[in-house]
Amino acid sequence: MKIAIDGPAGSGKSTVAKMLAERLGFTYVDTGAMYRAVAWKLKQHDIDPDNTDALRELLENTQFSISDSVLCMDGRKIGDEIRTPEISRLSSDVAKIAEVRHFLTAEQRRIAEKGNVIMEGRDIGTVVIPDADLKFFITASPEERARRRYEQLKRLGIEANYDRILNELIQRDRNDSSREIAPLKPAKDAIIIDTTNMTIDEVLDLLVRKVRDKG
Ligand code: C5P
Repeated sequence: MKIAIDGPAGSGKSTVAKMLAERLGFTYVDTGAMYRAVAWKLKQHDIDPDNTDALRELLENTQFSISDSVLCMDGRKIGDEIRTPEISRLSSDVAKIAEVRHFLTAEQRRIAEKGNVIMEGRDIGTVVIPDADLKFFITASPEERARRRYEQLKRLGIEANYDRILNELIQRDRNDSSREIAPLKPAKDAIIIDTTNMTIDEVLDLLVRKVRDKG
């Protein structure tokens, strides 16, 4: 079984996707982490994403692997270094680049092929696995999403400012929804869930019910 979960930043999709994967014993794949990891690597190597030759070479020398839902890049576990506001911005810019999307889409399909997977991102139901057995599009109001991201950063010990987060989130949504390749949008056959006034447990129960209906 393949389950696609898409939605904007801070919608709570990662949290419920992880919980659902645990509940079902499926592999959880955070595709946003893959975009973030590529952005982080570009920064580490001081490569301008517009430098196509250098970008191609970097991608050729990048490998992703996953085991027990732990995602690795180049043999190293991807950690919280990719969760900073700077990498959030950079990943959204890097995600517009065709070479990056082709590379990561192919990696994600390779992972999804193994089955029993919950893959989470922006274009999973529309582009990466359009044949997914179930597709969810999880969203919430920008204010609620900013509040959640603020709490999450604080928990990670990263300094955070609510207004700045809200503005950056709106900007990132605009970026992700308006890009030419694989923009953020619900698949035609996606179940849309607005979590603004829902608890995580309520969202999880709803997803579990939908999975049971399917199975
Ligand atoms: O989900 P997360 O906020 O960690 O993703 C970081 C960025 O990666 C997003 O803003 C988006 O631009 C990009 N992304 C994407 N396609 C995906 C997952 C993430 O373009 N499937």
